[in-house]
Amino acid sequence: MKKLTLIIALLLTPALAQAWPWSDDMANQISTKPQESVDPANPGMKAFPKRSVPVPGTTSLVKDREVALNTINPIPADEKSVVLGARLYEIYCVACHGQSGTGDGLVGAKMTLRPFDLTADRLKTLPDGHLWGYITFGGAVMPSYANDLSVAERWHVVNYVRRVLLKAPPVQAMMPAAK
Ligand code: HEC
Repeated sequence: MKKLTLIIALLLTPALAQAWPWSDDMANQISTKPQESVDPANPGMKAFPKRSVPVPGTTSLVKDREVALNTINPIPADEKSVVLGARLYEIYCVACHGQSGTGDGLVGAKMTLRPFDLTADRLKTLPDGHLWGYITFGGAVMPSYANDLSVAERWHVVNYVRRVLLKAPPVQAMMPAAK
């Protein structure tokens, strides 16, 4: 039994590192990547212009899903945010989680580990940071969306899931476990 557990754990390791052979299929293309030189004689990155500063992009200070859990949702779940979130959900999530959020998307329905139900009661008491953390870091099978969606866009998707799929008010932080 112990051996079997170990084998299963080892088999799942690539998932944790997002290192399945297909994890970066969409990233490896012949197109020029951001800041990649188009001049084969001068490969490497172009120098930054003088006095330039980094802009908030794909990097986030949140280290993992556990830290994300108590991150406060900075974007009010108003109509504008929910409409934007709906559009992004349609593009990035419907394939697996389905229009209904129950996991009946065209891809989701075929998966061995079915996408978790985004209308489930257990999500109503988990904080917004739980949803945001899943979108940011992915799960065992679910990919990370940190490169596709900006930090704010991920919160818009959270607001959509919260308001439309869960039909529940936002939860800002994890309740301390009762002792
Ligand atoms: C490739 C299919 C796929 C796509 C696309 C996908 N997910 Fe998932 N999602 C899953 C699977 C499978 C799980 C089950 C958990 C795991 O993988 O560890 C999951 C789990 C989740 C969970 C955890 C729910 C819980 O009960 O704790 C959330 C939240 C979530 N997904 C949100 C999203 C959102 C929002 C998007 C779009 C930005 C998205 N997912 C896109 C497959 C997908």
